[in-house]
Amino acid sequence: MTNALYAGSFDPMTRGHLDVIRRASKVFDKLYVGILINYAKNPMFTIEERVEMIREEVKDIPNVEVVSFDGLVIEAAKKLGVSVLVRGLRAVTDFEYEIQMALLNRNLARELDTVFFATSLKYSYLSSSVVKEVAFYDGDIHNFVTPNVERLIREKLAAK
Ligand code: PNS
Repeated sequence: MTNALYAGSFDPMTRGHLDVIRRASKVFDKLYVGILINYAKNPMFTIEERVEMIREEVKDIPNVEVVSFDGLVIEAAKKLGVSVLVRGLRAVTDFEYEIQMALLNRNLARELDTVFFATSLKYSYLSSSVVKEVAFYDGDIHNFVTPNVERLIREKLAAK
């Protein structure tokens, strides 16, 4: 059995994230989606909201489980018993940060490897930050996020 962890902020989850989740779920026996509790960032959604948001989107994929974690990703991986970290690569601009993270994590935990999924071309420009920015200025985000996530973003902005 090869289990993997796809860790990230997912604030919010984009169609690009979902694409990586769907494809990685076909490659690994079990895929954990791990939402980082990051005290340094000022997120739009709470951890509980993000867990619920992602669970709703992946409820039809039986081998995907959504969890949240605090601290180092390698410690979360050890606790979950996974041997692979999954990351999505969009453009060459992601490479420097991603390779640094992968090398650092493998240095800290020799048994842990990172597997990169090239994101589908149609999502290669997408990020959670651009989704939030476009939504903030009332732009059309329906190509970037699922209808449920779009509704949650609109509700969040309306409540401000
Ligand atoms: O979606 P993101 O914000 O690009 O995800 C980044 C994430 C959560 C994978 C990364 O920041 C992370 O692994 N943070 C946990 C702390 C950690 O392990 N740091 C060392 C590796 S950079």
